[in-house]
Amino acid sequence: MEKLKIEGGNKLNGTVRVSGAKNSAVALIPATILAESPVIIDGLPNISDVQTLSDLLEEIGGTVSLNDSEIIVDPSKMISMPLPNGKVKKLRASYYLMGAMLGRFKKAVVGLPGGCHLGPRPIDQHIKGFEALGAKVTNEQGAIYLRADELIGARIYLDVVSVGATINIMLAAVRAKGRTIIENAAKEPEIIDVATLLTSMGAKIKGAGTDVIRIDGVDSLHGCRHSIIPDRIEAGTYLILGAAMGEEVIIDNVIPLHLESLIAKLREMGVVIETKDDKILVRGHHNLKTVDIKTLVYPGFPTDLQQPFTSLLTKAEGSGVVTDTIYGARFKHIDELRRMNAAIKVEGRSAIVNGPSQLQGAKVRASDLRAGAALVVAGLMAEGITEVSGLEHIDRGYENLVEKLNGLGAVIWRESMTEQEIEQLQNS
Ligand code: EPU
Repeated sequence: MEKLKIEGGNKLNGTVRVSGAKNSAVALIPATILAESPVIIDGLPNISDVQTLSDLLEEIGGTVSLNDSEIIVDPSKMISMPLPNGKVKKLRASYYLMGAMLGRFKKAVVGLPGGCHLGPRPIDQHIKGFEALGAKVTNEQGAIYLRADELIGARIYLDVVSVGATINIMLAAVRAKGRTIIENAAKEPEIIDVATLLTSMGAKIKGAGTDVIRIDGVDSLHGCRHSIIPDRIEAGTYLILGAAMGEEVIIDNVIPLHLESLIAKLREMGVVIETKDDKILVRGHHNLKTVDIKTLVYPGFPTDLQQPFTSLLTKAEGSGVVTDTIYGARFKHIDELRRMNAAIKVEGRSAIVNGPSQLQGAKVRASDLRAGAALVVAGLMAEGITEVSGLEHIDRGYENLVEKLNGLGAVIWRESMTEQEIEQLQNS
């Protein structure tokens, strides 16, 4: 087991290249199940979630080759093998296997998904969609059983705007009979990316990226090549870091439009940001002004950047309120930031950050992926050495984090944990 060690306080300079989007990758890979000939996806991030999904496709009979950032999936010999447990528990996005297997085989058995613990994360809207398409859905001993004689297009109104439900219903509907209309759909860029792949496979989808998506079912889908979009959350994390510690940091391979809400908030704080084509230049500022943020569905401020942004706010003058309307309990990083001398209190769905505070290095633990990102940002801002455990969460979502940060001049490295430290971690 490893931990991260960070010597804080160093200024960052240079260019960092953003990888492919994790939250697209975890939907694009299951989507290949729907085709009947090989699908190639390039630009994938080298993260553990991609490896786990690739293994799961092999478990159901797919021939998969995963090299660096390219995956080739031959789905022709796949079967609807039950996946009740095991690897599906490792990531939340294993729920996309339900929509994709239901779409191709009209039946699936998939264990209830794992992933980050951010408070309750129901999948009732996914199930509502599958049922509307004609599937019988039951929960038997922690696994979801889906069966349908045939899938028939339907009009589905989502009661909650959900990225996962929107994509999952799209996956199930592309090979259904007739037209499906998803109303109150989520509009995240990752949804457009999945729709683009499915369209290249022969699906008929209109309106992805708006809140009404129309899908006309087709009998079969074929292989194709697809290039993934860049990861807006990874890019946003480096942008926040550049604001905190950057002299001049350039973020390369990014779509600036995907980060408008973050860029607007950073500019309000006094950070200098320039955008050009697929690059963003950021210069940190000594006297940052605080701001309030409220997470919202896209194109609002993303909940996935709320945690690293909170670390940045500790450096800003005044009292800033961070409200998470998507996951009201996504505040497990706050206790750890307090250990590092941050002045933050949580009230309901909000965290109130009183700054500026000079963060101090400490031993902290990442409880989930973006909490980990928040602690890395904080460690780089802090005086002295910070040790971050819970690296398995960070490895789920950030490709080559240490190498990319070293490239900007950060002093950060991985180190094996001692037996005593592992024992302490397990008992805490
Ligand atoms: N919700 C329901 N019922 C449902 C589905 C969702 O009540 O059936 C609620 C959720 O509890 C939440 C809200 O609706 O309060 C939005 O959830 P959504 O379904 O949009 O989230 P998700 O699809 O499970 C994806 C990302 C998350 C990201 C959220 C919000 C993936 C694999 N995950 O989750 O990413 O936080 O959208 O944008 O795409 C991360 O990358 O760290 C991460 C957690």
